[in-house]
Amino acid sequence: MGSPLRWCPLPSFLLLFGALLVTTPLLGSCHPAQMSARPGPVILERFNPNALGFNWRNLTCPLCKTLFTIVDIALLSDTNAERVARAVEEACIRLHLAEEVVCHEITELFRDDFIRALQESLLWPSEACALLVGPACGKFDIYAPWNITLPKGPKPPVTPPSPPKPGSPQSRVLFLTDVHWDREYQVGSAADCKEPLCCRNSSGTPSWRRRGAGYWGTYGKCDLPLRTVESLLENAARDGPWDWVYWTGDIPAHNIWSQTRDQQLMELTVISRLVHKHLGPNVTVYPAVGNHESTPVNSFPPPFIHGNRSSGWLYGAMAEEWAPWLPEPALKTLRYGGFYTVEIQPGLRVVSLNMNFCARENFWLMVNSTDPANQLQWLVHILQDSEEKGEKVHIIGHIPPGLCLGSWSWNYYHIINRYESTVTGQFFGHTHLDEFQMFYDEETMTRAVGVAFVAPSVTTYVNLNPGYRVYIVDGNYKGSSRLVLDHETYILNLTEVNRPEVLGNPVQDPKWTLLYRATEAYGLPTMFPSDYDLLLRTFISNDRVFQKFWYLRHKGHGSEVCKESCKTTILCFLQSGRSDQLEQCDLIHGFQGNMVRALRKTLC
Ligand SMILES: *[C@@H]1O[C@H](CO)[C@@H](O)[C@H](O)[C@H]1NC(C)=O
Ligand SMILES: *[C@@H]1O[C@H](CO)[C@@H](O)[C@H](O)[C@H]1NC(C)=O
Ligand SMILES: *[C@@H]1O[C@H](CO)[C@@H](O)[C@H](O)[C@H]1NC(C)=O
Ligand SMILES: *[C@@H]1O[C@H](CO)[C@@H](O)[C@H](O)[C@H]1NC(C)=O
Ligand SMILES: *[C@@H]1O[C@H](CO)[C@@H](O)[C@H](O)[C@H]1NC(C)=O
Ligand SMILES: *[C@@H]1O[C@H](CO)[C@@H](O)[C@H](O)[C@H]1NC(C)=O
Ligand SMILES: *[C@@H]1O[C@H](CO)[C@@H](O)[C@H](O)[C@H]1NC(C)=O
Repeated sequence: MGSPLRWCPLPSFLLLFGALLVTTPLLGSCHPAQMSARPGPVILERFNPNALGFNWRNLTCPLCKTLFTIVDIALLSDTNAERVARAVEEACIRLHLAEEVVCHEITELFRDDFIRALQESLLWPSEACALLVGPACGKFDIYAPWNITLPKGPKPPVTPPSPPKPGSPQSRVLFLTDVHWDREYQVGSAADCKEPLCCRNSSGTPSWRRRGAGYWGTYGKCDLPLRTVESLLENAARDGPWDWVYWTGDIPAHNIWSQTRDQQLMELTVISRLVHKHLGPNVTVYPAVGNHESTPVNSFPPPFIHGNRSSGWLYGAMAEEWAPWLPEPALKTLRYGGFYTVEIQPGLRVVSLNMNFCARENFWLMVNSTDPANQLQWLVHILQDSEEKGEKVHIIGHIPPGLCLGSWSWNYYHIINRYESTVTGQFFGHTHLDEFQMFYDEETMTRAVGVAFVAPSVTTYVNLNPGYRVYIVDGNYKGSSRLVLDHETYILNLTEVNRPEVLGNPVQDPKWTLLYRATEAYGLPTMFPSDYDLLLRTFISNDRVFQKFWYLRHKGHGSEVCKESCKTTILCFLQSGRSDQLEQCDLIHGFQGNMVRALRKTLC
């Protein structure tokens, strides 16, 4: 986290898109002749509202509304959308946000959906004019706060969990996340390149003394060849039996500038069938939807968007591929909004959330971010039902809840508080790193009520060993807590398995090895929420333990030492399962919002 990770051009790119959209068409509608005579980036340099006889301050409300009505109508025309797209592309190149090819392709990919989403949100006369003229002229409610409704009944008394009796049954759960298979991975290609993703044919050949892509994967901005994914599954299958599997999304590679719907679906199909083939028909896999499953990346229109622009193309294919694992009622909600619930065993249920409905990066939420698809209200309903039945619930999802939009995150935290005795496991991925986020009681913020596990990725992106996680969960018996008792992390040590490849003789069937077992590494009896709270305090009082965590966080592949502001940032992340706390932590320590921005930016 120490470095600002400049390899992801996406956030600045979208900002640019938004800024240009707000400014260009306004000018266009005032001076259409000039506009068409001098299209493209010239607008950027020429833009000066004062020169046009008005400034934002004396823009009257009716004038503003008229202007934005014209803008919205103008944007319906393809030529205007085209003009905006060209301006964005040119600016992207000039501002060196990315390589020319990347700028071009990313603009093409984003323009239609993003323009449409902006049109229905920021450029809506009421929203835009509330922002530009003042609250009297409209209502600005993009990302406005909202509250879910909890049932009236009282919260049942809480009994602190105790470790199970020795010899009690345990469940072994395989956990896979962030596979990021790169179909165009090419051994020997450049591992350093200017695009956001390297080690592919288009990355070119490495220059003198530079590194080339390895046989099993590469430390760098690279994703994985299929053989590494297969090797993982073969190893994991041998390591079984598995009681069940959680798989929290992000199948495609990080070539976000050049993805098509057909490719995304092909990758979904290939990896889903590979998992099925290797783990066998008797192991049930519970998948969740990642932010990379769609194209453009992060684009997950909630159900209020219909037709070809909706996510129907994706959820439909998922329901087909995952039908061997999920019953029909689950497939039904999956088709609707990319989320579902299933009973795993009597007494244990899983809820798979579509965390794209919580993400700032999902630009569709500018249109309406109030509990998209009613997902959280649905979750409350499920949890209430489980509470009444005495059933325990595990929640799985891709993006950790502490990185969500403010209101979503606040509501989720509130729900975890209310149902702390029902939700006994929360499992996420997305950051590619081995981390966790704490949940405390809302009254005192001192008693740990839950922990969201954030598991390391399968992919190497960026600079990591490939890896997977195993959870050991209190087992299938009456009165089981269904809490995580321990977990293990396995890696493929690339330093070791790629070495002989220099001689043109790569290691065959490489062994994935245990990196660490949590209770052993940290000397804890169990991995309950209270144990994690203790661990967090130990990080503060004993830097040796924190540095060990830092090493494991990167799956045992060296990273610079983490001291002072780096350490503070990490501690803020770990203790804040709610995004407003993370922001507060940021401000308290004088990072002025930079820390939160860096955390959000870490992955495209
Ligand atoms: C807006 O203010 C500028 C000076 O700031 C002035 O030149 C211009 O005439 C004003 N326009 C309108 C429509 O009042
Ligand atoms: C949501 O609930 C909290 C506390 O119960 C309250 O402070 C807040 O104002 C509510 N927000 C909205 C938008 O109703
Ligand atoms: C890689 O690129 C070379 C030329 O740059 C081309 O001949 C070759 O077919 C490409 N390979 C693949 C697998 O695309
Ligand atoms: C799957 O389970 C069935 C029934 O328990 C058993 O007959 C079959 O051999 C199992 N298949 C595999 C591949 O383990
Ligand atoms: C649906 O949208 C995709 C992606 O924008 C496009 O490629 C496809 O042609 C569209 N299909 C129809 C029937 O409009
Ligand atoms: C946004 O969505 C919520 C929940 O689906 C709905 O109640 C609300 O009316 C919507 N707001 C607008 C402005 O459409
Ligand atoms: C990976 O292998 C190298 C070379 O044998 C070794 O130095 C390193 O400690 C190993 N890393 C881990 C995490 O085991």
